Amino acid sequence: MTGESSHAPRMRAIIERKKAGLRLSADELATICNGAVAGSIPDYQLAAWLMAVWFRGLDATETLELTRAMVATGRTLDWTGIDRPVVDKHSTGGVGDKTSLVLVPLVAAAGLAFVKMSGRGLGLTGGTIDKLEAIPGFRVELAPDELRRQVERIGCALVSQSPDLVPADGVLYALRDVTATVDSVPLIASSVMSKKLAAGAGAIVLDVKYGAGAFMGTIDEARELARTMVRIGTEAGRRVRAVISPMHRPLGRAVGNALEVEEAIETLRGEGPADLWELALQLGAQLMTMSGVSDPEEAAVRLRRIRDSGEALQRLRELVEAQGGDPSVVDDPDLLPSAPIVTMATAPRAGWVAGVDAGAVAEAVLRLGGGREVKGAAIDPAVGVVVLRSVGERVEAGEPLAEVHARSEADVHAVLSRLASAFSLVDREDACPPEPELEWIDDS
Ligand code: URA
Repeated sequence: MTGESSHAPRMRAIIERKKAGLRLSADELATICNGAVAGSIPDYQLAAWLMAVWFRGLDATETLELTRAMVATGRTLDWTGIDRPVVDKHSTGGVGDKTSLVLVPLVAAAGLAFVKMSGRGLGLTGGTIDKLEAIPGFRVELAPDELRRQVERIGCALVSQSPDLVPADGVLYALRDVTATVDSVPLIASSVMSKKLAAGAGAIVLDVKYGAGAFMGTIDEARELARTMVRIGTEAGRRVRAVISPMHRPLGRAVGNALEVEEAIETLRGEGPADLWELALQLGAQLMTMSGVSDPEEAAVRLRRIRDSGEALQRLRELVEAQGGDPSVVDDPDLLPSAPIVTMATAPRAGWVAGVDAGAVAEAVLRLGGGREVKGAAIDPAVGVVVLRSVGERVEAGEPLAEVHARSEADVHAVLSRLASAFSLVDREDACPPEPELEWIDDS
């Protein structure tokens, strides 16, 4: 909205105060969130306030109060009466990040209730909702009573973010997107945590990624964001822990919607890439520990057993079927959409793989049509890239580095050489960096 409104003088004073680096009160933050949703504060004032926050920041109390004010603009889910602990997870987004597709059925099969609301992909990072829609018939929108019945029956749901939860985030995020104010720790933390708090789970794990394929470029930025989000959740009475995980190279091997669904199925079958399984296992074990049903070691043993017995895969079949999808994709991934052209990006020289640039792989998938540059754009579920060589592996000149799944020869040509150069090849094996350890952050 652009017209002058009754909130305009107050909003002008709030912007002045933040511009001067002063603390905003809970009441002022509530005025902003309510006015954003009601449309009574013009976009130009909201945008000016966002930029003032970007430069001046918010302290811990302001960030918590902003989060609370955002939650209060919408509905909050109430899971009272569900007979198991309700858990949730959020990833700040990465390349090839299909962890939720593995984690949700795995943890539900272990006896927890997992209600996961997810988003669509934008730019270089993919979205779980786009991946799910690669499954023929899968519905990502469930009415509230349908969602509850499904959680009561099978203990899990994977749905799109409901717009009546935290409507203030919808307004503020859209403005942040076009005013270069997304990359602010208090704004990201309040945006993410408001949605987690409104979704109502008692225990929440956060996967905060850093590196070329992530929002946060460095580990220190990721730690700061993780600490801020954990503090908000803890002060709001939830159990929250965050893992700091690297996103220099894609997670697992597949990047692209149907290809990632297939890889998640393989992982639940015990045949997927080790890094994806390890991350899902650690997140799952934390959720079980935070819910008080296990200690971390025992939880990991139980989750492995649940995977090996096929119970997790069975829960995925039930989940797909409950949401209108074709459950036979779980047994026959060939039923997923597939691209007409599959070709190889090959090594321009011999060497050891020292890195696979997640950002470059994501750009290739975007160019193939597997992602979207602007909200609402259509994506092709079938296309993508499968990384065939991992860090530390030896490759000879001309050997395959990655599979390209494409719609046309023109698309193949557009990505092939850039994709090959995403692999950095070195002459000595000991020049390959070790994979960084996962690091956990809690409220201590
Ligand atoms: N994801 C969100 O939900 N919000 C942000 O601000 C950034 C990433």
